[in-house]
Amino acid sequence: MPAAQVPVGNAVVIAGAKPYVVAQPTAGKYVAFDAACTHQGATVGASEGLTLECPAHGSRFDGATGSVERGPARTPLTSVAVRLDGDTLHVG
Ligand code: FES
Repeated sequence: MPAAQVPVGNAVVIAGAKPYVVAQPTAGKYVAFDAACTHQGATVGASEGLTLECPAHGSRFDGATGSVERGPARTPLTSVAVRLDGDTLHVG
């Protein structure tokens, strides 16, 4: 995916068979997570900035680290490898 889709300070959810979250917490630093909520597996959505929110029961995660900001989820999102190659991000 084009790196330009992930502005600095934001997290975006990439739809697909296995949805991912990709975020750019600080300029040039990209992180990615499995978008499956660690509560019951619903796909989290991008909220404001780096915040991710699960529509199922309202869990919130920090898109920079995957950590839980609000339950009922208790475990962080699963980290996924991401690599920048030129202007393209390769996830997974
Ligand atoms: S599945 Fe995400 S909060 Fe329950």
